[in-house]
Order: sequence, then C-alpha cells, then structure tokens
Amino acid sequence: ELHDFGIVGLGVMGRNLLLNMADHHFAVAGLDLDTEKVASLKTEASEGHRVHGTNSAEEFAGMLKTPRAIMLLVPAGKPVDSAIHSLLPFLESGDIIIDGGNSQFTDTDRRVTELAEKNIHFFGMGISGGEKGARFGPSMMPGGNKEAYERLRPIFEAVAAKVNGEPCVEYLGNGSAGHYVKMVHNGIEYGIMQLISEAYDLMKRGLRLSDEKIQQTFSDWDQSELKSFLIEITAEVLNKVDDETGKHLVNLISDRARAKGTGKWTSQNAMDLQVPVPVIDAAVMMRDISTYKNERIEAEKAFPFAIPTEYADNADDIIDSIKHALYFAMLTTYAQGLAQLKVASNTYNYDLRLEEVAKIWRGGCIIRAVCLEDFRKAYSRNPDLANILLDKEIGEQVIAREKAIRSVVKLGVDMGIPLAALMSSLAYFDSYRSAQLPTNLIQAQRDYFGAHQYERTDREGIFHTHWD
Ligand code: 6PG
Repeated sequence: ELHDFGIVGLGVMGRNLLLNMADHHFAVAGLDLDTEKVASLKTEASEGHRVHGTNSAEEFAGMLKTPRAIMLLVPAGKPVDSAIHSLLPFLESGDIIIDGGNSQFTDTDRRVTELAEKNIHFFGMGISGGEKGARFGPSMMPGGNKEAYERLRPIFEAVAAKVNGEPCVEYLGNGSAGHYVKMVHNGIEYGIMQLISEAYDLMKRGLRLSDEKIQQTFSDWDQSELKSFLIEITAEVLNKVDDETGKHLVNLISDRARAKGTGKWTSQNAMDLQVPVPVIDAAVMMRDISTYKNERIEAEKAFPFAIPTEYADNADDIIDSIKHALYFAMLTTYAQGLAQLKVASNTYNYDLRLEEVAKIWRGGCIIRAVCLEDFRKAYSRNPDLANILLDKEIGEQVIAREKAIRSVVKLGVDMGIPLAALMSSLAYFDSYRSAQLPTNLIQAQRDYFGAHQYERTDREGIFHTHWD
C-alpha cells in the first residue's frame, strides 16, 4: 500500500502529528534515523491506524504516493538542510517538502528557490499548539506554491484544530509567508506572556495577594473577554503544587527565562521593516534582563527598595483595573503584530489576507483568544485596515480601558514594579494616536549637526539651515 503522507523526524511533534493524521484515516509513513523511534511508532499506533516507519530514506520515498507530500519535523537550522539533502536523490519532479519547524523565514526563501530548480515544491509551515496541538489539532500556517497546496489541503484541514467547524489552517501566501506568520505569532506570544507576568507581579509583589487569590483571579479572567489559552494555562500553572515540597511549583522555578529566538527575530525584522512592535521588543528585553540574575542580586543590594503596603486595602478595585489594563495591552500587542504582517506582506509580496490569519489563530495555537474573532470581523469589514486599532469596534474596546491602563502604569511607577510591556503598550497607543509628535525637533537637531535636511509643514521642498 502507498502512503498518503510522509513525516521525517519522529520526535514528539512528528510522532503526534503522524498519529493525528492516522486518526483521520490517512496512511502515513515515518522516517527517522533512530531505530528506537521508528519501533515505538508501532507500539503507539492504535488498531486501524495505517502507519509504517523506516530509517531508510530510499525505502521511505518508495512508500509514498506521488506527487509525494513529505513534512520535516526536525530542529530548525542545519538539520532541515540535511534532511532535504538525504531525501533529494529519491524524489521526483512535482514532489512536495514541507518544513513544519520554526525556521527563519529567510532560510525558507532560500530553500524554496534552491528546490524550485529541481522542480520540488518547498513549503514553510508554522505549526502551533505544542505536543497536544500536534496530536489533537494544531493551528497550521502554510506558505508555498498555491497550486501544490491542493495536494495538502485535505490532509491539513482534517488534522487542524476546528473552531465552529472551520479548520485552523489556510493557505497563506507564497515563499516564506507561512514561516513569517508563525514568527510573528511567536512574537505576539512573547508579548502576551510578558504582559501576563507583569499583571502577576502587580498582584504578587504589589498587592501581596495570596497565591490562591491570584490563581482564582486568572481563572475568573478566563471567563471574561480575556478568555484565551495563555490566561487559562496561567491559572493552571498557579494551581500546581510540587509533590515533594507541597509548595506551589511556580514559586520554586528559577526566574531566568530562556528563548529559542523567534521573538527576537520578530523584533529584529520589525526594525528592518520600520514597524513599531514595542510590546514584543519589551518582552524580548525582559527575558534578556532576567538572565542577569547575579547582577540583579547585586543591584538590589545596592538600591534596596520596599514596595509600599498601603495598596492592599484597595485590592479588589486594583485587580479590576489590572484586568482592563491587561486587555488593553493584549489588544495593542495583536495590533502591533498584525501591522507588522501587513507591511511584511507588501514588502515580501506574500499577499496575506489578515482575515484568514485571524481566523486560523482562533483555535489550536498558543495565542488563541476570543478577541481573534473580533479581529477577523474587523478585517472582513475592511481587508485593507492598516491597524486594527483603527477599526471602530476594536477602537471602542481599547478606549473603554484607557483609564485603567493609565492607573495601572502609574501604580507600577509608584510601587517600583517593572511594567515594561504594559508601559510600552500605552506609549504605543499614545504615540499612534498623536497626529503631532515631537519628532520635528529631532529633524531640526539632525539638520543642525549633520546637515541632514528637513521638510516643512508650510512649504514643499527639502531644506537646510545654518543654525548657529
Ligand atoms: C507554538 C510555540 C512553539 C514553541 C516556541 C517557544 O506556537 O506552539 O510558539 O513554537 O513553544 O518556539 O519559544 P521560546 O522557546 O523561544 O520561548
């Protein structure tokens, strides 16, 4: 029997996606050099699953229906090139390779071009939702050749997460469109995680709330407009008690945050495109500052401080403000990421439809949240929307929370609690809605010391002044 689909790399993601496809009655072949992983595939498969594994690329290629559809689930970077290299001798014109990892979008563009010369279609596909998502329904962000996508569509639509019966997968655009969208997804993921940690800090160190109360607060928020995967898992994380010590596990976890790079890439490329994404920048920065643990310990000794206790009396009102401030900031974080996608789509000719992006982010992925349905509607009202804050309904949601974000930012300032992302979100909003910024002064200074010239508001042309 020939198989409908092939997966290279039988780590957790590869194995889970393969089993997900098998659940949906596709015959799937797996390739991994590790014979133990190949063998464990058989033990994990259920009755009725049509799955076969091998550690030979040649045998693997022979097991697949043509045109072959092969997904790589190997670590980003060199392993992707090696996997392609090992398959190539056994592939034919028209075959499709899909990279399902978190690859740099520029690597994906290079691979698309290299493989096109051999008439092989290369797809970059973001897959979000972690291990569980892969097994039971991820959000999938494919980009590549539009015609070739039809070979993949039925399989991807079957295995993707569903929201109201609609699959969380959609052809996004050519070249690296899929990996680009996934990169920005992760940038937003970083931003929201940072915002949530600031809300937590305000309640924990600021209001001195008990772990139980903070846990209950997140769990209540998950029943509101904040309802989202990241809020939901925060409540679950805060609930977890360490078996050995009987203490809340979160309090025993080191505060040095790690990162694999996608958040940083989002910020780096946003700067290249001159798109402001300050919440994402702040999130990357805070993970970086967290790694300077020893210096922070020294610095706290050098600059000791005590958070005032007076706020605790007013805790319930403050918790309510934090909730609204967090929602304000979440909306502006999505706004920044989506604005980046809009500019990137023009720059790299992806032809993204942001309505589709919002649609496939509603389920399966890490940044799924009820507000994505609102964004989808906003883009369906106006596909060319430059920024979702300019949509009337989203704008109303934001402005209703302006007072809350201002009061919460003030609170952080007074308490000495760092609110890098919340503050950036407010600064972004305040700048974006300022028709006039003080950057005229910067233009004058540039002209003063560097003869960089400036434009005027009252006359056409380019000007230079002898200032002194
Ligand atoms: C997802 C996640 C996933 C991964 C991140 C973690 O969408 O399922 O984004 O891709 O967990 O890459 O990134 P960091 O290790 O950089 O936090």
